Amino acid sequence: MSKRPMALTLGAIALGCCIVAIQPGRAVHADDDFDRDSHQGAASPAKHAERMIAEGRQTFRFDTFGDEDFWGGTLELHKAVEGAKLGGVGPGLSPLAALTAGLKVDVDALPRGVREQIEAGQVNLNDPAVTLALLRFRSVVGLTGFFNESGGLRSIGIQCALCHSTVDNSLAPGIGRRLDGWANRDLNVGAVVALAPNLKPVANLLHVDVPTLKKVLLAWGPGKFDAEVFLDGKGFRPDGKSAATLIPPAFGLAGVNLHTWTGWGSIPYWNAFVANLEMHGKGRFFDPRLNNRDQFPIAAENGLGDLPHISPDEDRITKKLPALHLYQLSLKAPKPKAGKDFDAEAAERGDALFSGKAKCNNCHVEPAWTEPGWNMHTPQDVCVDSFQADRAPDHQYRTAPLGGLFTHQKGGFYHDGRFPTLGDVVNHYDSCFSLGLTPYEKSDLVQYLLSL
Ligand code: HEC
Ligand code: HEC
Repeated sequence: MSKRPMALTLGAIALGCCIVAIQPGRAVHADDDFDRDSHQGAASPAKHAERMIAEGRQTFRFDTFGDEDFWGGTLELHKAVEGAKLGGVGPGLSPLAALTAGLKVDVDALPRGVREQIEAGQVNLNDPAVTLALLRFRSVVGLTGFFNESGGLRSIGIQCALCHSTVDNSLAPGIGRRLDGWANRDLNVGAVVALAPNLKPVANLLHVDVPTLKKVLLAWGPGKFDAEVFLDGKGFRPDGKSAATLIPPAFGLAGVNLHTWTGWGSIPYWNAFVANLEMHGKGRFFDPRLNNRDQFPIAAENGLGDLPHISPDEDRITKKLPALHLYQLSLKAPKPKAGKDFDAEAAERGDALFSGKAKCNNCHVEPAWTEPGWNMHTPQDVCVDSFQADRAPDHQYRTAPLGGLFTHQKGGFYHDGRFPTLGDVVNHYDSCFSLGLTPYEKSDLVQYLLSL
């Protein structure tokens, strides 16, 4: 157990040879190697992690994994963005329309002159040519334009940051500094996808016609996306509402076992899933669970669980997974400010309730805010229907981590946003678990939730 005898031995050897000046005890402490490159040429863990995080951030923000062959090449989305006047089709996507659809602009990517023009109101936000300029500056968060030599838009690709980043609105609404990991609850993914001139391949995949597909896409609404529709073809729930789920934050996930609302797998599992099956990047993906024809008819029919057989050189996703994983783990949930985001005194009382009378801490275990270990529950455990759970291999819901709740109050809570406010969530638990909370206790609990 003790490392002392070893240290003494090393020290003695050093002394014995009388040349190497190592301090006895230093060389064998694991911590000492942490921020120092080792003599074997391997990077220290700290430097290695730093490099990986920088690489992962680059991937998260800018890597399309070659998905422009799908979004531009197949769906021709770039033509709708460009508009007929500039060589594409339709009216084009003006900056105003883009911002209204929830797309965000990274102010740090804009040249100073452009920033000043925006501030002075001298930029024509109704002109699709301005959208192309913003794309050329690589300032549209999560979207990359590919240009041909004559300056026209040749293709377009998407990144993780499209859904899992927003901006702080420091320059104007929708224009500001990047906030990586924050869920973009303004983004109307369905409306953006529905702009694509050629939706036929997706409609064919789902065995529907294009108008039906558009109905599905336009029913998603802001802040939502349906990752499962491309597996099971279910566009709507039995009650007729959209089957889409809320975009969750991609921060505060370190220490959390299973991910997504329904616990599909680990972070690297889901990152590979999304990059291949949703973004349509070029990579390989394996999940035999998708061969289940009853549960995932579309996935089984198209062999999505064993996809595709491309060579390692063409695989642009797999080699990006380690750094992307580390980057996700490095994104802490942002901390709210007492007095601004929540009432500190009420939150303190709510804290006692959370782990006491309200029993929340039984599942949302501090500080991971989900169960250490197996963090899954049956729908009955939390008194909700099984529709979305049944669209995942385990037929359960994952205990949602609660850090940074104050950042995603738009769109509601629970996987489909069924509870418009945190007060509604607390009322739900009050009746589900017969907690007998008073109105004051409920409001204290809400203040505590806002403080996480
Ligand atoms: C089109 C929008 C969109 C894009 C692009 C996207 N995601 Fe997601 N992401 C979602 C949605 C929606 C979910 C929830 C899925 C579910 O539960 O079915 C999700 C879930 C996640 C989760 C699980 C979070 C948790 O609470 O456990 C992680 C991690 C994640 N995404 C990372 C990524 C990464 C990394 C990329 C890029 C490779 C990416 N996402 C691209 C919409 C998106
Ligand atoms: C039996 C385990 C369990 C208990 C006890 C529990 N939760 Fe949850 N909680 C869950 C699960 C599972 C989800 C995810 C439900 C879903 O996705 O539909 C969740 C989701 C939430 C969410 C939504 C998070 C989001 O991002 O939308 C909030 C807020 C929340 N719980 C707060 C509480 C509070 C407050 C209490 C105590 C009154 C509590 N929970 C008790 C399991 C539990």
